[in-house]
Amino acid sequence: MTLDPRSAAATALLFLCLLTAASPAARAQTNAAAPVPAQDPASVAFCDGCHGADKLAQDATVPDLGGQGAEYLQKQLLDFMRNVRAMLARRDESRNYTGQRDNVTMHPNAQAITESDAVDLAKIFAARACHQTVPPPPRPASVPAVRARCEACHRDDGKGDKGTVVPRLAGQSSPYLFNQLNSMRRAALGLVVPGTASERSHPIMNAELKELEIADLRTLADYFAGLPCK
Ligand code: HEC
Ligand code: HEC
Repeated sequence: MTLDPRSAAATALLFLCLLTAASPAARAQTNAAAPVPAQDPASVAFCDGCHGADKLAQDATVPDLGGQGAEYLQKQLLDFMRNVRAMLARRDESRNYTGQRDNVTMHPNAQAITESDAVDLAKIFAARACHQTVPPPPRPASVPAVRARCEACHRDDGKGDKGTVVPRLAGQSSPYLFNQLNSMRRAALGLVVPGTASERSHPIMNAELKELEIADLRTLADYFAGLPCK
């Protein structure tokens, strides 16, 4: 077989490239550029690293996304994405009309996805079954009367309003619910220190929580966490 000099040159060049690519520095570069499916931030497996059913029990501050409304999940992802730059640096009251949200753990995840990923991922998680908190928190002896107002939007069964941005609270982890209530109450009272680990502000919820004490928030979180999610 005679070698075509051009293809021999091409082979030599390819070999040289492979050699160069094998050097540690070049390999690091190649790996950074190459897609690594298991860790692709837009993949469900990546999200399940924290939100997966087997992980939820390990960290009660991580919410269950299963069975939550797609509209609500999508809005939360977009809130996280839009505010990642703005919110930790400063409070931006003009955006408070539809809400603001940031959290140190979700911050890099939200930065790593596109808006179209957010739409797809919201649909995928909404279509899953919810996971009941196990064991449920003890049923509070008494729940603040304001509960009736909460139920006007989140419904008597706490399952939220599917098709809208009002979320399911029933069966969600109590520490997670408490963190959300506490963040929104702090926003309502102007107690937010920019750069804190978790910030959330929503005009409707802020107004609901303004008059409540921290102990009320814990009771409400336990109450809704104890309702069946299905
Ligand atoms: C390293 C852990 C981790 C990873 C990975 C992760 N999340 Fe989260 N996620 C969290 C935590 C913690 C919260 C609660 C944040 C808070 O308290 O505001 C959260 C909150 C959320 C919420 C808000 C839910 C609600 O009820 O309001 C959504 C939606 C969400 N994550 C979607 C995703 C998606 C989609 C991915 C994959 C692209 C992802 N997360 C990857 C830890 C993670
Ligand atoms: C007028 C309607 C309305 C009322 C009343 C209301 N909520 Fe909400 N709630 C909402 C909406 C809308 C959101 C989504 C906020 C956002 O987009 O960040 C929400 C979000 C929440 C969340 C965050 C859930 C999650 O998965 O992150 C909790 C917890 C919550 N509400 C609890 C309560 C409690 C407790 C009360 C009563 C004290 C209450 N809500 C009253 C409309 C309402």
